[in-house]
Amino acid sequence: MADAMKPGLSIEECVRRLKRYHYAFKRLQQLFTARITAEPIYELKMAFSHHAHLCAEHAAALRQRVGEMREPPLGLEAVPDPSLEIFFDEILSAPTTEELVLGLYEKALPAVKAALEGHLADTNRLVDQPSVRLCRFALLELEDMLSFGARTVSALVDESCRQRTMNWLALLDECLVAAGGLGGAQKPSGKTVQRQRSAKPYTYDRVPKRDHRFPDPYNMGVNAEVFLYDEKFPPEPKTLMMFYKRLREVDVPEMMASIITETPGKPWGYYRDMTRQLWDEARHAMMGEVGFANLGIDWPRQVMINYTWSLALNTQLKPIERHAVLYFIEQGLMPRNGKRFEWEVGRASHNPLSALFQDYDWADEVLHARIGRDWYLKEFKNPQEAVRYGDECWSRVLMNWESWREQGLTQHRNWWPDLYRQACEHWGIEPDPAVLAYSTTYQTVRADLKELTGSA
Ligand SMILES: [Fe+2]
Ligand SMILES: [Fe+2]
Repeated sequence: MADAMKPGLSIEECVRRLKRYHYAFKRLQQLFTARITAEPIYELKMAFSHHAHLCAEHAAALRQRVGEMREPPLGLEAVPDPSLEIFFDEILSAPTTEELVLGLYEKALPAVKAALEGHLADTNRLVDQPSVRLCRFALLELEDMLSFGARTVSALVDESCRQRTMNWLALLDECLVAAGGLGGAQKPSGKTVQRQRSAKPYTYDRVPKRDHRFPDPYNMGVNAEVFLYDEKFPPEPKTLMMFYKRLREVDVPEMMASIITETPGKPWGYYRDMTRQLWDEARHAMMGEVGFANLGIDWPRQVMINYTWSLALNTQLKPIERHAVLYFIEQGLMPRNGKRFEWEVGRASHNPLSALFQDYDWADEVLHARIGRDWYLKEFKNPQEAVRYGDECWSRVLMNWESWREQGLTQHRNWWPDLYRQACEHWGIEPDPAVLAYSTTYQTVRADLKELTGSA
């Protein structure tokens, strides 16, 4: 009774605060996404993909809630406070990974957490129960993000880095004080804040970067698809090729992040769906990683994961053209030779993990086809035109197989026999000479490249 009788927040005040949480989640979704491509650390690429998805979902839920509160026009695209805008702009512009994770996980996410806890403390839980529910769910996932963030910061940031960034971190605090807290529950300080990192507008870096576990990022020396679709090869070694194909999907979040970041002005449903797909693709990459780990394979040494696809698309095509290629490749994954085939290989292979991964990969792919229909296809007069455009864009992409070799960027080393031998040791079997001798690269099947090398 005491809780239900407390004065709580008026609709006007409640909506004012909800819009600020919404703004924070929206900016965080944009920020995590924008920093995926050029972030070299593999775990952070994956985590940013995950956290971008979580923030996109919470932003969507808050938009819907504001819409329930007598509020048209909703004004959800407005900036609720100029100091909050500076706060997120500054973190987006952080020049190093260390500063970025400090800004995200020690300033931004704790500020959102404090705001949501403040909402639970201030509001009347009877009248405002639907908002209370959203805040509680969001806090659950904020805790997960914060615990990952704390471990990230302790792994990456040392005392001297903290000293160097002290002034900047103090500026972030100043922004929040000037805004009356992220949720706007306190009195704003009224002080104007001077931009530091964001004094120059942020420019998105669309060139993918990788860490030391990707030592040969131009290597196109092992053609996974030719092996996979060749009926004379048995299913067990094919699981290795599928783990390779999955792990190579690191380049899909790298590429999708560029579409999302460079396509402004869409309805929130677009960003929500595209970010969900981006996160699925990151999970597909981790499935490959787990598949190798499960076989005791040291993948950074044994498997050369390249970034040629995301590099080529991000640097050679416009955002809508990249989306066209993604759609073109994904709609080609549904027929006989696509995801069902991979699942069947997994089931036949006696590797239960491979079957499980392909089962879910296939289901995700069906969702992605729906997302493509909803957000890409509708740009065209008819589906045929949309597919033709994707085909045309993909044909224009140059994979410089030979010139990368001439420039000394890669030798396209055939790493397959060593990988296969190591897996055979794990399985306790003798290598099959025909499998061991496999040496088809992506150069010799240049004509089929278009159909075969799509990552998604
Ligand atoms: Fe995928
Ligand atoms: Fe996909």
